[in-house]
Amino acid sequence: MRSALNCSTGFAVTPLADAAGPAVHRGRILSFLSDPGDGAGAASYRYFADGALIVENGRVAALGPADAVLGQLPTGTVIADHGDDLLLPGFIDNHIHYVQADVIAAGGRQLLDWLQDYTFVEEGRFGDPEHAGEVAEFFLDQLARHGTTTALVFCSVHPESVDAFFAAAGRRNLRMIAGKVMMDRNAPAALCDSPERSDLESRALLARWHGKDRLHYAITPRFAITSSAAQLEVAGRLARDFPDAFIHSHLAETRSELAWVRELFPSSRSYLDVYDGYGLLRERAIYAHCIHLDARDRARMAESGAAAAFCPTSNLYLGSGLYDIAAADAAGMRFSTATDVGGGSSFSMLRTLDEARKVARLQGQDLSPLRAFYLATLGAARCLKLEDRIGRIEVGTEADFIVLDLRATELIARRTAGAHTLSDVLRILMTLGDDRAVKATYILGRQVHGHPAATATIAPMKPVS
Ligand code: GUN
Ligand code: ZN
Repeated sequence: MRSALNCSTGFAVTPLADAAGPAVHRGRILSFLSDPGDGAGAASYRYFADGALIVENGRVAALGPADAVLGQLPTGTVIADHGDDLLLPGFIDNHIHYVQADVIAAGGRQLLDWLQDYTFVEEGRFGDPEHAGEVAEFFLDQLARHGTTTALVFCSVHPESVDAFFAAAGRRNLRMIAGKVMMDRNAPAALCDSPERSDLESRALLARWHGKDRLHYAITPRFAITSSAAQLEVAGRLARDFPDAFIHSHLAETRSELAWVRELFPSSRSYLDVYDGYGLLRERAIYAHCIHLDARDRARMAESGAAAAFCPTSNLYLGSGLYDIAAADAAGMRFSTATDVGGGSSFSMLRTLDEARKVARLQGQDLSPLRAFYLATLGAARCLKLEDRIGRIEVGTEADFIVLDLRATELIARRTAGAHTLSDVLRILMTLGDDRAVKATYILGRQVHGHPAATATIAPMKPVS
């Protein structure tokens, strides 16, 4: 109940404070402190059933119980009142292809046919800056609508595709990570570069975009099958020359892919060992899928600091296999959830978490709702080593946050009305929710998606009698 609070709620849309000045939000607020899978229980998160946060200059300036935070504010301050809705850090999608926005839900058999028949054909269009720009805008609109505020993004082999993406993300003030695909064999000639060209083009793009605004570059060899040894050497050299750049690739997604890698790199002990041999395992290296790994591979992933992107909707859509959460945990391997659009079948992190839980259940494992939301926020930020900036709502972090609607559909409203615990609410949202549950998305405190929130005004204190 909020009766103790000295606020009057109205539904007129009063502009909140100018984006550069403070803005105040009130609602349920959840942010993680550590992995709930580590057994810390309630100590792994902060939850304010009636909380408030203040944004100043794009960062969280104050956070706490509403009565404490709002009590400091002058009479007349306008606040965004989110009622019972849930404020969370924006979702972070650690593996997605913007150039595959028009491949999603294409016919699909298994990975290698799907790449040849649909994906490479579509990616061939991204040398055209106009097409790339149009798709980049659509893609970023979709991310905002689905509550994803940061993503690690594959572009195509064309530098134009990278320029278009970063330009669009920069205009929106987004923290985004992307890179040009390096690919010099086993793909259509029009989509292949060469070791030399990928080196020159990647360096030029790194110089242009890495560290500009909120943007970061990812060195992006597509996968071992489409890069020659000479090109993987180039990727390794880039990684050494740019130690704070990201590395982004695919690994151990299907069994037929593994068999081909064995033919191409007969002296490597495993698929992972191919990347390891070229210096491509380290912190800030993210490998999508990591399904068909063995115990030595997982131990090496953990030791190197590289992380996996678990892409359940893609793995189910393409029939690639089941990511083994328990084995990853046993090895101490870091991972987060990701959509892998267009192999993945949804931009929604909520749909992704639901499928992730099902993948766990199919193997007799579990993925608790708290851990699921951790993986999509702080867990993902940790994989990127960006947890000081994103993935949390804490004083000092960047104010990229979302508002989830506990009444998004009749069914969600009915189920959340009877929910007794935070875990129940989260389970309902991830099981039944999609973009309809994302009521608003804020980037650096500025709303970029959703209807304006209801507002309230801090009223004068009643005299104490
Ligand atoms: N492996 C190499 N390229 C791709 C891709 O575009 N999507 C997926 N899911 N796997 C890949
Ligand atoms: Zn992918």
